Amino acid sequence: MVAQIELPTRYTLKTMLRTVRATRYVTPLREGGSLPAIVEADDLGLYVLKFRGAGQGPLALVAELIGGEIGRALGLKIPEIVLVELDAALGRNEPDYEIRELLTASAGLNLALDYLPGSTMFDPAAGDTVEASIASAAVWFDAFITNVDRTARNPNLLYWHKTLYFIDHGAALYFHHNWKNIEQMVESPFQPIRHHVLLPWAAHIEEAASAAFEKLGPDIFAGILDQAPAAWLSPELRPAYVDILTRRLKASSNFVQEAIRSRAGVI
Ligand SMILES: Nc1ncnc2c1ncn2[C@@H]1O[C@H](COP(=O)(O)OP(=O)(O)OP(=O)(O)O)[C@@H](O)[C@H]1O
Ligand SMILES: [Mg+2]
Repeated sequence: MVAQIELPTRYTLKTMLRTVRATRYVTPLREGGSLPAIVEADDLGLYVLKFRGAGQGPLALVAELIGGEIGRALGLKIPEIVLVELDAALGRNEPDYEIRELLTASAGLNLALDYLPGSTMFDPAAGDTVEASIASAAVWFDAFITNVDRTARNPNLLYWHKTLYFIDHGAALYFHHNWKNIEQMVESPFQPIRHHVLLPWAAHIEEAASAAFEKLGPDIFAGILDQAPAAWLSPELRPAYVDILTRRLKASSNFVQEAIRSRAGVI
């Protein structure tokens, strides 16, 4: 009898990312640098849409998708990510020229996150705190994906129903803007971790690294990369991302040691 092959029981994208169609432009989120907006979709849900035609370009959506799904694989809370089909006609009656241009330039597939109504930004100055296990996983995660956007000034952490949600990973994975610096990125200790807003609470970074090894691996990365639409990322580039992420996972101790050192400086 042929032995049953064990399928990985770790994170799997249960289904493919859902695709919805935008039906209404509700309002811009002016605080976002990329002019994201709340839109309604044909499933009647509200989403925060990240436009493919924004200045940051389609690679920001690639980073948003890969970063977000890696965070989810690690067990962090990330609002559901969906693909959004945008019809050029949606912006036709939009009075604001800048918004109309953005909608026109983004016809086709975009990315959106489930909108968390009434959420508030994590604010240590207001006494917000976080569990050490979540903070440690977050520090490991952001160092892994080289995400500079988790500072006290711009934490990109939303409190919603007493749970902390991680958003805004569009600036992560900076290597994909300049493939010449890949080796540097793979091995990087990621010094910007010293500005991470959750560093003071991240008392168990080594444990977070061990947990990450259990949860991530080339199969997980490949499953995530398969979800990146060809309109944003040439499918030929997917294996390169999987390879780089796998090598960065192996180089984890570089950035773990840096994060532990940085933390000693802030507590
Ligand atoms: N899923 C969500 N639910 C509720 N509010 C959200 C959600 N996603 C984003 N926001 C709000 O919109 C703002 C902008 O979103 P985000 O940070 O993702 O955009 P950005 O353009 O990348 O921003 P940045 O200015 O940080 O570069 C957030 O700071 C937050 O207030
Ligand atoms: Mg932001």
